[in-house]
Amino acid sequence: MDKLLITGGNRLAGDITVAGAKNAALPILCAGLLTAGDIDLHNLPQLQDVRTMLKLLRQMGLRVEINGERAQLNGAMIDKPEAPYEMVKTMRASILVLGPLLARFGEARVSLPGGCAIGSRPVDQHIRGLQAMGAEISIEAGYIHARAKRLKGARIVTDMVTVTGTENLLMAATLADGVTVLENAAREPEVTDLANLLVKMGAKIEGIGTDRLKIEGVASLHGAEHQVIADRIETGTFLCAVAATGGDVTLRNTRADLLDSAMDKLREAGAVLSSGADWIRVQMDSRPRAVSFRTTEYPGFPTDMQAQFMAVNVVAEGSSNATETIFENRFMHVQEMNRLGANIVIEGNTAIVQGVDKLVGAPVMATDLRASASLVIAGLAAQGQTLVDRIYHLDRGYDRMELKLRAVGAQIERVS
Ligand code: UD1
Repeated sequence: MDKLLITGGNRLAGDITVAGAKNAALPILCAGLLTAGDIDLHNLPQLQDVRTMLKLLRQMGLRVEINGERAQLNGAMIDKPEAPYEMVKTMRASILVLGPLLARFGEARVSLPGGCAIGSRPVDQHIRGLQAMGAEISIEAGYIHARAKRLKGARIVTDMVTVTGTENLLMAATLADGVTVLENAAREPEVTDLANLLVKMGAKIEGIGTDRLKIEGVASLHGAEHQVIADRIETGTFLCAVAATGGDVTLRNTRADLLDSAMDKLREAGAVLSSGADWIRVQMDSRPRAVSFRTTEYPGFPTDMQAQFMAVNVVAEGSSNATETIFENRFMHVQEMNRLGANIVIEGNTAIVQGVDKLVGAPVMATDLRASASLVIAGLAAQGQTLVDRIYHLDRGYDRMELKLRAVGAQIERVS
């Protein structure tokens, strides 16, 4: 199993190119199931979750050609509308095939995702929404079995804001009979990116970027060409790395307007940020100041940045609170950071951090994707060597992170 060996203490300086967004790429690949036409994608990130999704889609009969960050999909030959447990259990986002398969083929069998390291994460809202559109759904032997001759437009109000829930129902509604209104829809930029692709494919969607999506179903969708948006979480992760270690780094191929709330918090922490249409520069010359935050849905502070920000707060001057409102059990990085000398106490869904003068490297264990990224940042800020184990979690969502960090002066290497 691969590990990352980090010798901390280096200032980071130089340029990093940010990849396409994982959380946009995954639903966008599933949109390939909605049409027999060709989907031509640019800026596809090269990471494990994308490879897992492509494997799943190929099993269903989707034809895929990959050439670096370019992918060509064709869904003319799909013959197996099924997502087996072996795949879904490794990646919850596999649930995103449910809506498109059901809408286009009238039937889908998708394994229930089951437990996951950052909480129970049910998919009841996906199922309820499809039922409202007329699907017959039964749970058999751990599988969701959904059937509908043709889905019907409906007004759906989800109990909470759900990102993949919105994406699943949005994709399903594009081919339904009549008008669907999704109230309480997620406004994450990745939902917007998917909606923009669907419109290029011939879908009729109003309210893109708002919490009310109105979709008028069409009989069929056609092929399209699309560029996946920049990964705002990868962007934010590198910004936090510089805030924790000090330095001057320019992130390329990304957009500041995708992460306003995180950028505001970084400014509060003392980072100097500037940006243009497709770049962000971060300069940090002092020890960060502690900043408190609370995770919420977009455009609020993202839960996917909570752990990385905590890695800044642990070396900051002062104390801070991080309150997690989206997922239960998303503080698994805390015990590991404390092993590096951090001072973090958890009370309910809040982590109280007292900044320390220095962290000292130690072996630590990654437990989930963003927790892994936070441990890498803590390791970069720590004195001496940190060995981050189980980085297969990191590889799920970051495209060659150690190479990008090494290019800006970090001492980090992958060891087996
Ligand atoms: C997506 C992102 C993930 C991010 C999360 C929140 C992808 C592939 N993943 O995950 O990186 O951390 O949004 O921004 O885009 N819930 C239910 N029932 C449902 C659906 C959700 O109770 O049917 C709950 C969840 O348990 C959670 C909350 O709603 O507490 C939000 O989850 P959701 O937005 O659905 O997260 P994902 O789409 O899985």
